[in-house]
Amino acid sequence: MNRRNLVAGNWKMHGTTAELAEVTAISIAAETAGADVALCLPATLIERAVRAAPGFAVGGQDVHQAEKGAHTGCISAAMLLDAGARLTIVGHSERREGQGESDADVRAKAETALAAGLDVILCIGESDSVREAGRAVSTVSAQLDASLPGSIPAAERFSVAYEPIWAIGTGKVPSVDEIAEMHAALRDRLRSAFGEAGNGVRILYGGSVKASNAAEIFAVADVDGALVGGASLKAADFLPIVEAASARAE
Ligand code: PGA
Repeated sequence: MNRRNLVAGNWKMHGTTAELAEVTAISIAAETAGADVALCLPATLIERAVRAAPGFAVGGQDVHQAEKGAHTGCISAAMLLDAGARLTIVGHSERREGQGESDADVRAKAETALAAGLDVILCIGESDSVREAGRAVSTVSAQLDASLPGSIPAAERFSVAYEPIWAIGTGKVPSVDEIAEMHAALRDRLRSAFGEAGNGVRILYGGSVKASNAAEIFAVADVDGALVGGASLKAADFLPIVEAASARAE
């Protein structure tokens, strides 16, 4: 199964008008890249980014599971689409921890977003104490099972991002063997859930990906790209990662 790598940036709570030039620079390079490229931006920047970089894949960082209603401060799938977004992250560990989102919430968000027409990147990952206790694979596999949407419309519209919490923004990364072991286990879970389509779902790695470690991570079996936080904010940091992902033999 040929999977084209996907490199998605997650700008988190960074980015105002002044940073639109970075979006434009990234979008221009994305046109000729050998990998899919997307930026998940703060909601306030989505529409302006889409205008500044027509045709480029801009996404949100979260979506509410309800179509609409009394949910102060939240954003619906229809609103993201209306602003020009094509995709959204769901279940990032910063939302699971900071906003108390459960696996059931994440599953509902993924189902709502896919049904509305947004592509989805669903995040999972273990804490350092779970990793140290030797329970990383079983814990993350169970988290995936409980967070997965019931069905996916097309494999290329749904991706999973394995992001060890202890690796996010810390400069620490798992060994390539640890990444390989986890991604193989997640591939098995995706095949059990979706059959053959599970082979087409991209499994991204996330957590302190940067230009200097990207090629090594992308060489791991069943790593189909990356979700990148800090190193996605500047084109100069992000584009070498896109380049490393483009080098994958298709
Ligand atoms: P990081 O963040 O690349 O800054 O570690 C990754 C993420 O949280 O998606």
